[in-house]
Amino acid sequence: MKLRFSMTGLAAIAIVAGACSGSATAVPSAAAGASAAAGASAGAGASAGAGASAGAGAGGGIALLLPSVDAARYEAADRPDFEAKIKALCPTVAYAYNNAAGSAPTQQQQAEAAITNGAKVLVLDAQDGDAAGTIVTAAAAKGIKVISYDRLIKGGSSPDYYISFDNEKVGQLQGTALLAKLTADGKTSAKVVWINGSPKDNNASLFKKGAHSVLDGKVTIVKEDAMANWKPEEAQQIMEAAITSLGKDGFDAVYSANDGGAGGAYAAMKSNGVDVTTKPMTGQDAELAAVQRILLGQQYMDVYKQIKPEAEAAATLACALATGTTPDAALVNSKVNNGTIDVPSVLLTPIAITADGSNGTKSIQDSVVADQFYGATSVASICDAKVDAGLPAACTKYGVK
Ligand code: BGC
Repeated sequence: MKLRFSMTGLAAIAIVAGACSGSATAVPSAAAGASAAAGASAGAGASAGAGASAGAGAGGGIALLLPSVDAARYEAADRPDFEAKIKALCPTVAYAYNNAAGSAPTQQQQAEAAITNGAKVLVLDAQDGDAAGTIVTAAAAKGIKVISYDRLIKGGSSPDYYISFDNEKVGQLQGTALLAKLTADGKTSAKVVWINGSPKDNNASLFKKGAHSVLDGKVTIVKEDAMANWKPEEAQQIMEAAITSLGKDGFDAVYSANDGGAGGAYAAMKSNGVDVTTKPMTGQDAELAAVQRILLGQQYMDVYKQIKPEAEAAATLACALATGTTPDAALVNSKVNNGTIDVPSVLLTPIAITADGSNGTKSIQDSVVADQFYGATSVASICDAKVDAGLPAACTKYGVK
C-alpha cells in the first residue's frame, strides 16, 4: 500500500491516452509501472498503453482525479464515460487518471504530480473540498485550469468550472419519497435513523439540507450521524449502534445519503435479525446492488444520477480548455458560489426511482433499464438469480425486461 501510494503520487500523469484512446500518448517511463499499481488498486487497468516516450504533460494534458472506490460509480461510470468522451473529442491530448481511494493526502500528491508533470487541466473530484483549495491555488499559479467535478471545491482558490447535480434536490427527493411511503403505510411521526455523508464533502451537506427541509417536523429522528469518509462500514457501525440503543423495533425507517451507506445499514439490520422489508430506506447512485435490494423490497428508493452527461460535460470543457478553444457557452447553465466567487456551473437533474415508479418517482424499468445504466446486459445483471434467487420473479413483478 505504501509503495502504491507514494508511487502513485509520483506518477499521476503517467496513465496515458492509451487508457482512453488506445493510441498511447506518452509517459515518463519510470511512471508507467506506478500507474499500473494505481490502476490495479482502483480495479481497472489504467496503465494499459503506458510506456511511450515523451512526457505526458509536455504538450499539456488532462488529469482526471477521482476520490474513492467505495462508491461503484467512479470506476464503473465516471471514469469510462469521461475517457470515452475525451477519446472522441481530443484523442491526441495527453491524459492521466488517478483515484485517491478515499485519502485526501493521496489526492494531494496525485494532483501535485499532475501539476509538476505539466498538466494543463485538472478535473478534480475533491476527497476533501476545503483541503482541495490548496490544489487549485498551486494549479492557478501555473496557469492550470481546474474543473471541480461533482463536489464543489470551497477552500482557498476557486475552480474555473463546477459540474454536478442539483444536490439539495437529491436530498429533497430522498425525503419526499420516504415521507410518501411512510404516509402510505399509515406511519405518522415515524422514527427515522438518519445516516449522512462525509462532512468533508460539500455534497453531503446539501443532501442533508435537502432531506431535512422535507422531513423535519414530519418524522422523529431517533439517531443522526455521518459516515466520516463515505464508507459503507461506517454506516454499518452507525446502524449497529442505533439497533443496540433503540432495539429492533425502535425505528421505522432509515435515511441513508447514498447506496454505499444503505448497503452498510442493510448489513447491520440483517445481522441483527431486523426484517428489512418493514423498514423503508433511501439511497443514491442507483448502484446495481441497491437496485436489486429495491426489487427485493429491502430498500425503498434511490436517487438515480445519470453520470454520462456529467462526465461528458466535464470532458467537453476539459478538451476545450486543453486545446485552447472556447467551451460552448450553452453548456454552462448555472453559477454556484463557493464562498469566494460565483463559479460557472453545469448542474444536472437527479431522478427519484422505486421498483414500481409510485409516489412521483420513476420505475427501475423506465430509468436505469431504459438508459442501460449497467451496460447492454443491464437486465441480465439486475435479474441475476445467482445474486439472489428471488430476483427473476421480482423482475417479472416490476416489469424489468
Ligand atoms: C457523490 C455521490 C457519492 C458520494 C460518495 C458524493 O459526492 O455525489 O454520488 O455517493 O460522494 O462517494
